[in-house]
Order: sequence, then structure tokens, then C-alpha cells
Amino acid sequence: MFKLVLLLTFSAAMIASCTGKKEAENEALWKSKGDSLISRTFDTLRNTLLKAIGEKGLTGAIAFCNTEAGKLTHTYATEEVTIRRSSDKTRNPANIPDSLEQKILSVFYQQIKDKKEVTPVFEKDAAGNRHYFKPILLQSICLNCHGDRVTQIKPDVWQAIQQKYPADSAFNYKEGDLRGIWHVVFKKEK
Ligand code: HEC
Repeated sequence: MFKLVLLLTFSAAMIASCTGKKEAENEALWKSKGDSLISRTFDTLRNTLLKAIGEKGLTGAIAFCNTEAGKLTHTYATEEVTIRRSSDKTRNPANIPDSLEQKILSVFYQQIKDKKEVTPVFEKDAAGNRHYFKPILLQSICLNCHGDRVTQIKPDVWQAIQQKYPADSAFNYKEGDLRGIWHVVFKKEK
């Protein structure tokens, strides 16, 4: 009897550690898929934005972002994998955070407050969908449209922003600030 109990305990522990390991491996796989999707999407957005600024100037680029940013963000999305950007201070109301995104934004802000590195978050929800979040940090080029409203955003650019986005609150950022988050969803396999 004692031997049997020992055997059972041992097997249970083995199974637990194996599934634990498998889950960790899976998580690493999902994260690397997420990283690749985010970096391809970011490159596409940034390169297209830079091209638009070069061709049409900053003011023209606002109108361009207005019609194209949403579509471009979905360039590599599929039925099973979605990607979007969100922020606690949005320009486009379509990017206002949902409750899960709000939670992650608070986690990131807490890490910043604690002077820790902002680290990506991976979560599985009750329905079995997997979520991957990464911070979006503000770079110097972004200041033209998200920086100090008086000293960094030029009057004609500010006017164009106000015209397209009357509810805008995505300004007065500094370089290195948390501008928002990437949110990738891997939908539960059917
Ligand atoms: C030419 C002006 C311009 C520049 C430069 C710019 N943005 Fe934006 N940004 C916008 C506009 C316009 C939107 C709204 C796009 C839309 O309608 O979806 C936006 C939206 C966003 C959003 C989505 C959340 C929201 O507020 O709606 C994030 C995140 C963001 N920008 C980050 C950045 C970062 C990071 C950079 C620098 C790498 C940057 N932006 C550079 C104009 C700009």
C-alpha cells in the first residue's frame, strides 16, 4: 500500500511538472509569435508614417493616419490573430482601452513607478483566448504629434489634429514615456 501511494504521488508530480514545462514552452512560443507580429506591424506603421511625412508634411500625415492607421495596424492580422493599439490617453476613440487593457496599463504604470523594467504580459482568459501585451514607448520622432502641445506640436499640426480628432488627449508626452500598449489576441482554436 505504501509503495502504491508513493508511486501515485511520484506519477502525479511527474505529470504536473511535465504539463508545467509544456505550458511554459507553449507560452514562449506564443510570445515569440506575438513579438514577430508586433515588430512587423510597428515597422509597417513607422515606415508608412515616415513616407507620408516626407511626401505630405506633418499636417498631411495627420489626414493620412486618420484613414490609414487602423487598416495598417491590421496588415498581418488573420481570423485567428488580432492586433491593436490602446492607451490611457487616446487620439482615436476607437483605441480606448477595454477592462483587460486598462488592467495591463496599470501594471505597466506601476512598474514604471517602481523603477522596474516594463515587461510584456501574457495571459489566457476564461474563454481560452491568449492575450499578449507589450509597451509602446515614445520616441523623439513621435514628439511632433504627441509631444508638448505648445513647444513641440506646430500650430498647423495641432489644428489638423483638432479637426480630425476633437476628443484627442494623446499629447504632452515626453521621450521615453509609456505612450500605450500593443494587444495581440490569439483566439482559442476551434
Ligand atoms: C504625423 C503625426 C504623428 C506622428 C509623428 C506619430 N503619431 Fe501616433 N498618432 C497620430 C494620429 C493621427 C493617431 C490616430 C490614428 C488613428 O486614427 O487610428 C495616432 C495614434 C497613435 C496611437 C494609438 C492610440 C491613440 O492615441 O489613438 C499610438 C499608440 C501612437 N499613435 C503612438 C505613436 C508613436 C510611438 C509614435 C512615434 C514612433 C507616433 N505615434 C508618431 C499621429 C502621429
